[in-house]
Amino acid sequence: LLDQRKLPGQLEYFDATSFDDLCFAIKEMIVRGAPSIGVAAAFGFAIEAARLSHMLKAENLLKLLPSIKEKLDNTRPTAVNLHWATDRLLAAAVALLSEPITSDDFRSRTLSLAQEIFDEHIQTNCKISSTGATLVKQNASIITHCNAGPLAVCGWGTALGIIRFAHFAVLNPHVYVDETRPRNQGAKLTMWELAQDKVAATLICDNMSGYLMSSRKVDMVITGADRIATNGDSANKIGTYNLAVVAKYHSVPFYIAAPLSTFDAVAKTGGDIPIEERDSIEVTHIEGKSITAQGVCALNPAFDVTPAQLIDGIVTEVGILRPPYLASIAAAFGQSTFVRQQNENIQYMK
Ligand code: MRU
Repeated sequence: LLDQRKLPGQLEYFDATSFDDLCFAIKEMIVRGAPSIGVAAAFGFAIEAARLSHMLKAENLLKLLPSIKEKLDNTRPTAVNLHWATDRLLAAAVALLSEPITSDDFRSRTLSLAQEIFDEHIQTNCKISSTGATLVKQNASIITHCNAGPLAVCGWGTALGIIRFAHFAVLNPHVYVDETRPRNQGAKLTMWELAQDKVAATLICDNMSGYLMSSRKVDMVITGADRIATNGDSANKIGTYNLAVVAKYHSVPFYIAAPLSTFDAVAKTGGDIPIEERDSIEVTHIEGKSITAQGVCALNPAFDVTPAQLIDGIVTEVGILRPPYLASIAAAFGQSTFVRQQNENIQYMK
């Protein structure tokens, strides 16, 4: 895993060779971003199930599989892609063990599925990007928040993928990137990714978007999402909600870009989405140094929910979903071949 904590200063890799390494990497945000976490979790599940398959009989392994999923699901609570990936691995592992299978075959089949999920994500991101680029006008001025580029989504990008696509299509976009306190994914990761492609980009503090929209041309806002409820309410990095409110006030279109694996068929509204609370040290300290008085109390919710009525469209691999989202999201799931296999979810969606 490319160690995202060290960027942009150092390009270092973290070797996650065991299940515990993988859980640690997700928890500590060595790998981060909802889709990337999902893919990492798929490999984590495969590695652990394969290890145990060499030691246990099928019936005993079957009993342990749900606990592998549970441990992974608990590493980061908001990004639903993680559950989506572990659901898929669990279902596949159970199916494989229902027939006689050697542990070597079991290992290669579960690892192949994780690889398949990885590959699918890249294709999905490309579809989201080309579709979303149709929303981008020539010379558009765009605000984005957090990081929804190749690092966060295991290749190419979703919200940032749209911007990259528009850039390579010579639409000449200019991006304002929120620094995204407290972890500064915008300043550290999004700016780094945009610099590599030579996309015109300007870093701003999170509290500057109101000023920008009131004083300069801003054509649109695009962000990613970590979990989307069936009514379109979307959880994303803390601060996204503020941005959406300001965009609505200034009549600037606000878009979300996310794969179908980010939709939670069980969450009816944003109120059903668990919001991760992280250590307050991320707020009180920057790069290990305190920036406030000793012992102060600080709040650190990692995500907020943007209500569906503030979202002009959700760009997915099956098209741009528009309000009313209850209907457009259900229709999108009707087109998805993969989600049809996830019985529990699709039944609810229908
Ligand atoms: O850094 P994280 O994992 O806490 O943040 C998740 C995200 O990357 C963002 O919320 C992003 O906008 C959506 S995921 C591409």
